[in-house]
Amino acid sequence: MFNKSNDASPNRYFCTNGYGMEQFVVDEVTRKLAAHDIERLQGKVLFSSSAHINLVKELKSAERLFLLMKRDSPLQLSAPANPARVASVLKSTLIGDLQQWTSAEMTWRRLQGVVADKENESEAEEQRTMEEEVFEEENGSDFQIMKKRRKMDCGDEYVDTGGDFIAGKHDRGKTAPGANRHSSVPFSFRISCKCSGSVSRHLSVQEVSKVLGTSLSGQLGWKVDLRNPQIEITVYLRDDYCLLGIPLTRLPLANRCYIKTTGLRSTVAWAMAELAQIQSGSLVLDPMCGMGTILIEAAQEHKLAGFLGLDIDDRQLDKASENVAFAELGDRIHLLKASTTNIPIPNASVDAVVCDLPFGRKFGTKTDMAASLPLILAEMERVLRVGGSLVLLLSPQLSCLLKKLLTQPQTRTEDSANKQGAQEITSTPTQGEEPPMGLMTEPRPPLSSLEHQATLRLSLGTIDGLLHKYIKTQN
Ligand SMILES: C[S@@+](CC[C@H](N)C(=O)[O-])C[C@H]1O[C@@H](n2cnc3c(N)ncnc32)[C@H](O)[C@@H]1O
Repeated sequence: MFNKSNDASPNRYFCTNGYGMEQFVVDEVTRKLAAHDIERLQGKVLFSSSAHINLVKELKSAERLFLLMKRDSPLQLSAPANPARVASVLKSTLIGDLQQWTSAEMTWRRLQGVVADKENESEAEEQRTMEEEVFEEENGSDFQIMKKRRKMDCGDEYVDTGGDFIAGKHDRGKTAPGANRHSSVPFSFRISCKCSGSVSRHLSVQEVSKVLGTSLSGQLGWKVDLRNPQIEITVYLRDDYCLLGIPLTRLPLANRCYIKTTGLRSTVAWAMAELAQIQSGSLVLDPMCGMGTILIEAAQEHKLAGFLGLDIDDRQLDKASENVAFAELGDRIHLLKASTTNIPIPNASVDAVVCDLPFGRKFGTKTDMAASLPLILAEMERVLRVGGSLVLLLSPQLSCLLKKLLTQPQTRTEDSANKQGAQEITSTPTQGEEPPMGLMTEPRPPLSSLEHQATLRLSLGTIDGLLHKYIKTQN
């Protein structure tokens, strides 16, 4: 997996990630990029690696990737802020040594150009062929045309503008033609700044951009270009650190070129597949697959495993089926209309179950998930083989209920159940014994075979989700 780049000296990167995903990023950069000097911040991971830039751009757990320019302690600003002092602190902290900026420019150009020369010829040829195919198929199905356009977009990163170059509309994987040659054209840039905490009370984004912009153009001859710059210098100013970087791709890494319609965040879907520890030859089930994002992320990563997705909603299954076809994974991902309360497969027949239960506005459902959870869990547990993993993404509320279900004994008092809705627990009668008066036996699943491994809280954008992992320990 780990390929050295043409240049063996490591580059220092950072990537952003959704809250809670940091450990997945740390593990992925360590495993795939042999990364070292890893620093984990909330929502970001800094690392050094000599891996080829194309491998770095293939990270699945990260949202955006940057070349790290500077990581410093927080700005020392005191209230009330004097504008001259603010400008001086900004310059000394953020600009610092100019040599650092010129060498960052060279590194960026080298990274952008490292694969360009080798790929330019074949890329141009491939582009021509795809354009011809699109043209020829204009009377064919929209899907075929869109699929080809999407494929072109995946590789269409930078547009050569004759010596200078600008970022194109889709920029995963390939780089600017001739970008490795140090251009005599001034480097064009704009600044994107995010201030948070008390820093945002002392400083405006405009102030930071003005001070940085004036310094870089005055001292380095770089050219401010707000509309179409070569680079966007990204600045994070927080109470605990300052971070400056240059994005290495225009679109987030999290935008997958192989997914047509996005369901669950691709990074989270990938993380769920990671937690499931899928092996070659494994059969993986997503019994509420929606648009199939988890299955697609898992199948992209695990080329020798098979996947089955179930859903009760025809529209979701249609989208999943389009997504699977789009990703060209139809030979390994199979879809079926079925309810997770009655999974149509034999006991102990799958190696892993991964499931993102409906919650939130996007995927809310009319079904009462809380009421169905015991049966859903029982079915998942039934089809899982001993030793297999169960990975669930749930709302915080369902997560509490899940924990209760998996820790409580299997009987409850009729009285308390009537009063409190199946929450109050008493004792469990011994086998063969009639339950005492007031106790009723539930058609409760044998969930005790599920051994808890981990619970993680993750940001899903506007809401949080809880990721649980269990291993089935017995039949
Ligand atoms: C949160 S969504 C899954 C989203 C999916 N991970 C994706 O990325 O597109 C939950 C899915 O569960 C499905 N669902 C709800 N109740 C179900 C049931 N009883 N059996 C099977 N699927 C069900 C819904 O139709 C919905 O597609």
